Amino acid sequence: MIIHILYGSETGSTEQLAEQAVEHLQQLGHEVTLDPLDDAKVSDLPQLSGILLIITSTWGDGDPPSNAAELHYQLSKNETSLTGVRYAVFGIGMASFGHFCQAGKDFDHFLAAAGAERLLPITLSDDNGAADLPLWLNKLQPILTRQK
Ligand SMILES: Cc1cc2nc3c(=O)[nH]c(=O)nc-3n(C[C@H](O)[C@H](O)[C@H](O)COP(=O)(O)O)c2cc1C
Repeated sequence: MIIHILYGSETGSTEQLAEQAVEHLQQLGHEVTLDPLDDAKVSDLPQLSGILLIITSTWGDGDPPSNAAELHYQLSKNETSLTGVRYAVFGIGMASFGHFCQAGKDFDHFLAAAGAERLLPITLSDDNGAADLPLWLNKLQPILTRQK
């Protein structure tokens, strides 16, 4: 089973987190791909075999980072059924901002609204990916091993 990680990152720190997730999952024997969110089209998502993991920051005033903005916009239109897509979202942001982790929350919501299966409730990290990402991956691990 392939794990597809799509990330959204403005300055690269969330991209680094996503790279850590790749290493972690590869060490557990999973096959993993890593791309910016905007490298995916909505129409690609139903074709994905395996699991989709989204790791994204929030920027501006509750906005997606620039390498996630196009997919965010396309998904917001909710024009494509994503039934059969299995996913989990890790959102990172800062609780001092008014729209804490809004981009992660949006992706989580858009995917569920389009019929995708949420494998785990969204995890929100208050700019503490170093501690929160491994906890999220540990929670995911039994779910990933159960999936075919
Ligand atoms: C200008 C700016 C705007 C931000 N806006 C938000 C926001 O609206 N909501 C939030 O939860 N975090 C916000 N953040 C926090 C970032 O999501 C957080 O610092 C994250 O680690 C940035 O990761 P990145 O550089 O990989 O995008 C903002 C940070 C900056 C510098």
